[in-house]
Amino acid sequence: MSAVNIAVRAFRKLEPEDIKLLQAMEEQMKNYEYAPKDAIQKQSEFAFSEIEYRLPLLIKNGLVQGWRGKYVGYGLTTAGHDALAINALVKADVIEAFGKPLGVGKESDVYNALAPDEKQVALKFHRIGRTSFKKTKLKRNYTVTYSYTPDWHHQSRISAKKEYLALKLLYPKGVAVPEPIKQTRHVLVMSMIDGAELYHYPELPNAQAVYDEILSNVKIAYQDADMIHGDLSPYNIILQPDMHILIIDWPQAVSTKHPNAKELIERDLRNVLTFFQRKYGLKNRLEDAVTYVTTNTKTNLTAQD
Ligand SMILES: Nc1ncnc2c1ncn2[C@@H]1O[C@H](COP(=O)(O)OP(=O)(O)O)[C@@H](O)[C@H]1O
Ligand SMILES: [Mg+2]
Repeated sequence: MSAVNIAVRAFRKLEPEDIKLLQAMEEQMKNYEYAPKDAIQKQSEFAFSEIEYRLPLLIKNGLVQGWRGKYVGYGLTTAGHDALAINALVKADVIEAFGKPLGVGKESDVYNALAPDEKQVALKFHRIGRTSFKKTKLKRNYTVTYSYTPDWHHQSRISAKKEYLALKLLYPKGVAVPEPIKQTRHVLVMSMIDGAELYHYPELPNAQAVYDEILSNVKIAYQDADMIHGDLSPYNIILQPDMHILIIDWPQAVSTKHPNAKELIERDLRNVLTFFQRKYGLKNRLEDAVTYVTTNTKTNLTAQD
């Protein structure tokens, strides 16, 4: 079961005191990888008996893990961090019900959820520092357990924030990206989008139009938001059912004033162009793409309605 599934299942059973205890542990994890009971007690201001009662249940439900080294300590699991983020989103009326997985990337797990206005939203749980995983065979299927570096949560929080800020700049400029809704801890909430990664699309009726539309969006991002994606590839471009594209996955975006801006925009464009050349025989040239994107001329939006 994934961390998010564990978090959602446990979340339903949590009492306000459990949330408070998890929050106290989260706070103490700034000081300790595994916090001793004393520190948890001070932070939460609960009686020891309350902690003795609640900790084993939180461990049983997969939100907390114990550790025995020079001392005995307790830390939040990935699911524990996820549960706190979900709690914050429910409290803030951003989500009301939890849905299904939408995608698992190298550095994220993406789920859908229902907002109070009945809109579907996507929750991207950032997982920077997910190092390795173990596949274990259960009776009928496999379960995958990941390991994380100790500072994964800190890194993931930074990553979620960076992506949220990037989308906040890009979306109002008209770049084809999901609409940013909220960021809390390591989770980014955005509009749910339909379609599939360009890479997985079996065939394109008009590859040139799709390529042109990608370039015009890369250009608006560059010219109007001063931003370079930095990890552009056919995996981070979604083709929607109406054949228009969306560019996703922006946490590593950099400013056009970045010292490596030139290399990064060239690499982004090369990744896209090579794909279209190999798969669809497009004859466009990289220099032209770079000039088109980086020169401040009127953006050609003919590929869009
Ligand atoms: N807003 C969204 N709506 C629906 N699915 C999404 C959304 N954002 C991401 N996904 C799905 O999750 C996958 C991983 O997202 P991505 O942002 O590329 O993260 P990663 O850094 O893990 O590659 C995507 O390939 C896509 O299938
Ligand atoms: Mg991606």
